[in-house]
Amino acid sequence: MSRPVVLRFIQVLPNANADGDFSLKDLPGSGGRIDILCRGLSACFDWGTETWSKEGLELIGALGSNRILRFRCPAQECRSERTWAEMIKRAMKGFTVEGIETREGSLEDCIGEIEALASSKIWVLDRTGVDRSVLKDTVDSSQNTFIIGDHLGFEDRAQRVFADHGVTKVSLGSTDYLSSHCIAAVISEIERLVT
Ligand SMILES: C[S@@+](CC[C@H](N)C(=O)[O-])C[C@H]1O[C@@H](n2cnc3c(N)ncnc32)[C@H](O)[C@@H]1O
Repeated sequence: MSRPVVLRFIQVLPNANADGDFSLKDLPGSGGRIDILCRGLSACFDWGTETWSKEGLELIGALGSNRILRFRCPAQECRSERTWAEMIKRAMKGFTVEGIETREGSLEDCIGEIEALASSKIWVLDRTGVDRSVLKDTVDSSQNTFIIGDHLGFEDRAQRVFADHGVTKVSLGSTDYLSSHCIAAVISEIERLVT
């Protein structure tokens, strides 16, 4: 199998604080579970990869109803949850932060843009989806995107977007994993499939 160029995750956080007005000492409460995004970033860029080039990774945060944060791997290594939170806060406040782009936009906007890319495949990570063995025969696109829910899963609105766009749900098994674990597991699975 040829190596996909981009492995992308979209972390959906409909209740997250989308303007940077959260306390670094209370990320789950004041950040509306922005801690989930911080741990997802650590999983993606800091501890999830073994063989996959970090330049080939991307994580998008779809926050609230109209805020998109796009993360590529910054040069700095070994970031903690708090360091990621500081970077997110600065980016949301309008400062230039290496590796982070912010803009207005919804989950549906993101999906539409990614669908328009050449050779692009989008999956939703869902415990009730089809077995992950399906990835073996289908992860051959140059762009593979996996959408992940928050601690509550996906709201009805996100579910409707998935149905409208015909996005396939794929399961990592019957256990309910943390979002960050799912990111690490998908990276590991794709590394195994393409190397
Ligand atoms: C902590 S889980 C959400 C738990 C929530 N109670 C639910 O039932 O969806 C966070 C996200 O991780 C992903 N996830 C967790 N376990 C998974 C599994 N076994 N297979 C696929 N995705 C999973 C899903 O995207 C889920 O929305």
